Amino acid sequence: MKRIAVLTSGGDAPGMNAAIRAVTRTAIDRGAEVIGVRRGYEGLMEGDTVRLTARDVGGIINLAGTVLETRRAPDFKTSDGQRRAMETLDRLRVGGVVVIGGDGSQRGANDLCGAGVPVNGVASTIDNDLCGTEMTIGVDTALNVILESIDRLRATASSHHRMFIIETMGRNCGYLALAAGIAGGAEVIVTPEHDHSPETVVEMVHEARGRGKRHVILVVAEGAKNNARVLKEAIAGGPANDFDPRITVLGHVQRGASPGAFDRLLGTRLGTKAANMLMDGKSGFLIGLTDCLATPVSLSEVAGARRSLPPELLEIARIMRL
Ligand code: ADP
Ligand code: F6P
Repeated sequence: MKRIAVLTSGGDAPGMNAAIRAVTRTAIDRGAEVIGVRRGYEGLMEGDTVRLTARDVGGIINLAGTVLETRRAPDFKTSDGQRRAMETLDRLRVGGVVVIGGDGSQRGANDLCGAGVPVNGVASTIDNDLCGTEMTIGVDTALNVILESIDRLRATASSHHRMFIIETMGRNCGYLALAAGIAGGAEVIVTPEHDHSPETVVEMVHEARGRGKRHVILVVAEGAKNNARVLKEAIAGGPANDFDPRITVLGHVQRGASPGAFDRLLGTRLGTKAANMLMDGKSGFLIGLTDCLATPVSLSEVAGARRSLPPELLEIARIMRL
């Protein structure tokens, strides 16, 4: 393969730049040229590309976001959008593509594969909602941002005998809320997958006070049906209303931190594997992390599949709130 393309798509995630750098340098090391596609599938449809040299990807491993930029590009879901993307690849004589992104992006990668383009995906989203990988690039850094906030809010919560309801991102997946809740010592964790009713939450908070808790931290995923506002109203109207609940929505600050060591290494390892496999003529894979190793899984098997929360973490969360 003489020329490959690399793009980032969907929500930006800390560590995407490490993956871009790794794909670029690995392909160059194997004798290929690298084309960077700007703005994800939007740039692929519009032909917005740039040649990447080993020097061009210098000084980016520590940067948040993605230097290639990213977009939500709904037109790519249409056959006309995918035809335009294929035209760009043909015109530039690109032999294979690495798609760095989350669940939707990997569905797009699978579509391109179906159309005959050699593609490998790199699992990258703060949501950790992809099947076929234990961790995606960006999760660890996002979790550390959330923890910094939880630690600060706990100081105020204990000083004021208050309850904080902290809303995390994650779209329809509760991983961020569950993992941050455990690592942050939350008393209550609410996720779309395990959506406690407002009555149950009121009971849990009441019981926590009975066990001597002086404050309550509740972490709720943005995708939960019983959202932060509903839960606040339930608490304020129940027997534990003296905790005087407050809501903090963390929002996009969760996405924009400089990647930590884990995400820089993960981005580099997954990007290297994706490019090496393309150069070896192996495509149609999502590269993720399994048993601490960069591991390929078939894109057609994992694209669009729904991931469930690790039972081990759910059980730990149940015990640790005591
Ligand atoms: P993420 O990849 O982070 O989950 P999105 O779900 O927004 O983010 O997907 C990113 C992009 O991937 C979309 O804007 C679209 O261009 C493409 N995409 C998403 N779903 C599909 C799909 N079912 N088929 C083809 N392309 C898709
Ligand atoms: O997929 C990453 C994510 O941050 C989700 O957690 C969140 O629901 C969504 O993107 C927000 O999207 P946008 O940045 O387009 O508002």
